[in-house]
Amino acid sequence: MRSHYCGQVDASLVGQDITVTGWVHRRRDHGGVIFVDLRDREGLLQVVFDPDTPEMFAEAERIRGEFVLAVKGRVRPRPEGTVNPNMATGEVELLALELTTLNDSATPPFHHDEHANEELRLKYRYLDLRRQEMLDNLRLRHRVTQALRLYLDSNGFIDVETPMLTRATPEGARDYIVPSRTHPGKFFALPQSPQIFKQLLMMSGLDRYYQIVRCFRDEDLRADRQPEFTQLDIEMSFVDEDAVMGTMEELVRLLFKTVLNVELPNPFPSMSHAEAMQRYGSDKPDLRIPLELVEVGDLMEAVEFKVFAGPARDADGRVAALCVPGGSKISRKEIDDYTAFVGRYGARGLAYIKVNDVAAGRDGLQSPILKFLPDDVVEGIVQRTEAHDGDLIFFGADKAQVVNDALGALRVKVGQDRDMVADGWQPLWIIDFPMFERDKQSKRWTSLHHPFTAPATDDPDTLKAAPGTVLSRAYDMVLNGSEIGGGSIRIHDKAMQAAVFELLEISDEEADEKFGFLLRALEFGCPPHGGIAFGLDRIVMLMTGSDSIRDVIAFPKTQTASCPLTNAPGEVSAEQLKETGIRLRTARKE
Ligand code: AMO
Ligand code: AMP
Repeated sequence: MRSHYCGQVDASLVGQDITVTGWVHRRRDHGGVIFVDLRDREGLLQVVFDPDTPEMFAEAERIRGEFVLAVKGRVRPRPEGTVNPNMATGEVELLALELTTLNDSATPPFHHDEHANEELRLKYRYLDLRRQEMLDNLRLRHRVTQALRLYLDSNGFIDVETPMLTRATPEGARDYIVPSRTHPGKFFALPQSPQIFKQLLMMSGLDRYYQIVRCFRDEDLRADRQPEFTQLDIEMSFVDEDAVMGTMEELVRLLFKTVLNVELPNPFPSMSHAEAMQRYGSDKPDLRIPLELVEVGDLMEAVEFKVFAGPARDADGRVAALCVPGGSKISRKEIDDYTAFVGRYGARGLAYIKVNDVAAGRDGLQSPILKFLPDDVVEGIVQRTEAHDGDLIFFGADKAQVVNDALGALRVKVGQDRDMVADGWQPLWIIDFPMFERDKQSKRWTSLHHPFTAPATDDPDTLKAAPGTVLSRAYDMVLNGSEIGGGSIRIHDKAMQAAVFELLEISDEEADEKFGFLLRALEFGCPPHGGIAFGLDRIVMLMTGSDSIRDVIAFPKTQTASCPLTNAPGEVSAEQLKETGIRLRTARKE
């Protein structure tokens, strides 16, 4: 039908007769001549319909936006003064000789140029995907997966598919479950990751595995989370952390070079989890923002102001400061907004000091809490935060976790609001994570990564004696403040795996019921192994500069985990429920 893509017609084709197909992007009637910008996936081409051929012209008058056309015509240079430098095909136009309308179109619910609301865009996703920006995102995503596959194939990684209908996999989110018809009352779970299967593949001797694989997690959704998302999943045998991290860095560097022509640093910097929390209040710090948290707890232990003294004296507490250069211009209203913002992270307030004139000492400062703080403390704060005239110092005082969450998020927000985010790419490894953390409610130990992550000790007794202080052999890759990947060296020893299950208070029966097959496999010669999984959607989101993960997924779910296009999730028939042995608790309107 077609000889050329619209977007590929250029001056080299002048004088030739060609045939293009595509959608009517815009139609302009210039009294006697009709111009149509015809669009296909490669771009736009201006087509001119002349009244000389009355039959064709009559059809051209009838066509509207999004009609599908095939046009045979002659390529000619645009008349002087009408060249459009903003269009790839802007030097030429196609003088139509034959027009075939392949299909009409109803009036679309939104136009390409307008920013329609997302619900509508998702309901008519096929129209939304006609937009150049969305097409570009999908194509970049394709180039990413191609570059990844090429590297992995040439480095001996074997692509293996693992089951979608499986048992619960422990990544800490809720499972999506699927009832079994052949085993009424029993359920499959969709995988939260292929974690156990890839470990079993190492036990099979596959040595190097990868898979670009869908994972399912029923969790609260955010701008960078989807219930159904894609991982680049990797596992390697006979490796330590340096081997995995080194190979993965090389992969990510090559990816950025191939797709964006960007050189990432070699090697990536790395930072311990403890240092990241201390300096940035986050385990995924955005190093493009030049703000840091400063410890001031020791200065506050003896102050009268209980809001600060309490957490300063509490072993689990933290009092930290965040100095914002030039921040004294921040208005009262903005401070109130920031106070509400940190409130979302559990902070009960946001104390601040405006620094007008350092040389003037106390008189050069302005703050509602100044009256509670003695001179030496005030001096200590100014020194330690290295505050200058015109700065503003924020304070957080609470349990360390609240302060870290609140000031960590505030650091990013203030950095963005005040245009302090440097250009470029800042990759970072976070290492030396604690093995476990205590669940706030149940007080039980939980894994920071997953229960198959190896501790930094080979001795199960050492681990059991000090579960709160032993570090793990996990690593996360962070890019511009986003966790793009995480992995670890795994436990390959049955006694250690059993010790971890015990610490997690997973009973022998439960361990046997859920992971018995893995424990058994560990008895049959398991090689030392480790791996990682990257969030592919997140990587593409960063590479395309998208604000939402949904903009890099062809058919994503909404924030409430539904699909406005297909109306999924939907109801199933009484017959299907009966077959799977399910009775609904809430009666349904039939
Ligand atoms: P983890 O749970 O850290 O590790 O997941 C790996 C990476 O997947 C991405 N990711 C997500 N992306 C979009 N939406 C989500 N809901 C979502 N959840 C996670 C993140 C994250 O870094 N089996 C282990 C990996 C291993 O140990 O090898 C795992 O799944 O970018
Ligand atoms: P208050 O005495 O409660 O009025 O608080 C005085 C100042 O301290 C106000 O600016 C509060 O926003 C701030 N503040 C209160 N609680 C905290 C806290 N936990 N961390 C940091 N600042 C706080």
